[in-house]
Amino acid sequence: MSMKNLAPENVRAIAPYVPGKPIAETARELGLKEADILKMASNENPLGSSPKAVAAIRGALDDLAYYPDGSGYDLKAVLSRKLGIGPGHLVLGNGSNDVLELVARSFLTRDDSAIYARHAFLVYPLAVQAIGAKAIEVPARDYGNDLDAMAAAVREDTKIVFIANPNNPTGTFCPWADVLEFLERVPPRVLVVVDEAYGEYLPDELASPSPRWLASHPNLVVARTLSKAYGLAGLRVGYAFAHPDVAELMNRVRQPFNVNHLALVAACAALEDHEFIAKSRDVNARGLVQLEKGLKALGVEYIPSLGNFITIRVGDAARIYAALLKEGVIVRPIAGYGMPEHLRVTVGLPAHNERFLAALERALGR
Ligand SMILES: Cc1ncc(COP(=O)(O)O)c(C=O)c1O
Repeated sequence: MSMKNLAPENVRAIAPYVPGKPIAETARELGLKEADILKMASNENPLGSSPKAVAAIRGALDDLAYYPDGSGYDLKAVLSRKLGIGPGHLVLGNGSNDVLELVARSFLTRDDSAIYARHAFLVYPLAVQAIGAKAIEVPARDYGNDLDAMAAAVREDTKIVFIANPNNPTGTFCPWADVLEFLERVPPRVLVVVDEAYGEYLPDELASPSPRWLASHPNLVVARTLSKAYGLAGLRVGYAFAHPDVAELMNRVRQPFNVNHLALVAACAALEDHEFIAKSRDVNARGLVQLEKGLKALGVEYIPSLGNFITIRVGDAARIYAALLKEGVIVRPIAGYGMPEHLRVTVGLPAHNERFLAALERALGR
């Protein structure tokens, strides 16, 4: 008997998440020096981490024998101030991936369904499938969330709808007024999870108003992360805010010490590092313009993006991915997202973007 048969069918059917190829692995396989490899595959911050967060970590290294503060008191205090909401609304996570799973684990059973869009972040199907709940994948509109179709897909057994805004891996964006309308349109028994992993990259006029929706929308759950604009992907820290009843249930389900001490300390500092965030946003906005200009010159189709990445259509994406990899440029194939002709490229520093564009030109034989 295969030990795999011990697991329920829904678990055996899970397709493993394939992360961006790590630099060390690429160096090993291709015989390249790690320093010569450019990773533009996992939407990481090309500026590194908030220096204030790094300094805070250095100052916390003597405390590692102690368990972290499982209540996350200090981080919740910083977030409460920043968001203008009480700490009872907050759930901290080992990355926002953790809080996305916590919503699923706290509310879904095998008898329930959850909705997400085609080309949505793969953690949504993973979280739903791990529970054995039913997944409803709604066709995309122009590669993004089709909110009308998603509202129409809600059934009696639907408990959760996941909406990433901007969406990963497509970079598409739904106006916040449409998201609010969606929230008001679905039955109040349906939790709407708005995933704002890339929210910090939105221009000021598109900044998310979701904290202000909390008071009047008990079915709203917003997920955010410090992995992207704050440059702390390796530490794993994210958070959710929701109605206190929802937050309290999620807090019961989470591991008591799900966010480690260094992550808590670093997140507090990073959230106050306004200079770093401003620089991250600026570098990203300029990088997107640079990449769009270069792609246009190469005649490569791309999906206009409001994230820190851009998704391009190259035809035989597996071949182009391999050709770029040979040059030490790692991008992200997204066939697993139902997009076998596309590659997702994280925005880099100006020299990174230039190197990628030159490698792409060669790979395409232009
Ligand atoms: C849409 C979206 N949500 C959530 C995450 C999870 O990020 P983390 O777990 O690092 O916070 C990502 C990461 O790529 C993402 O793209």
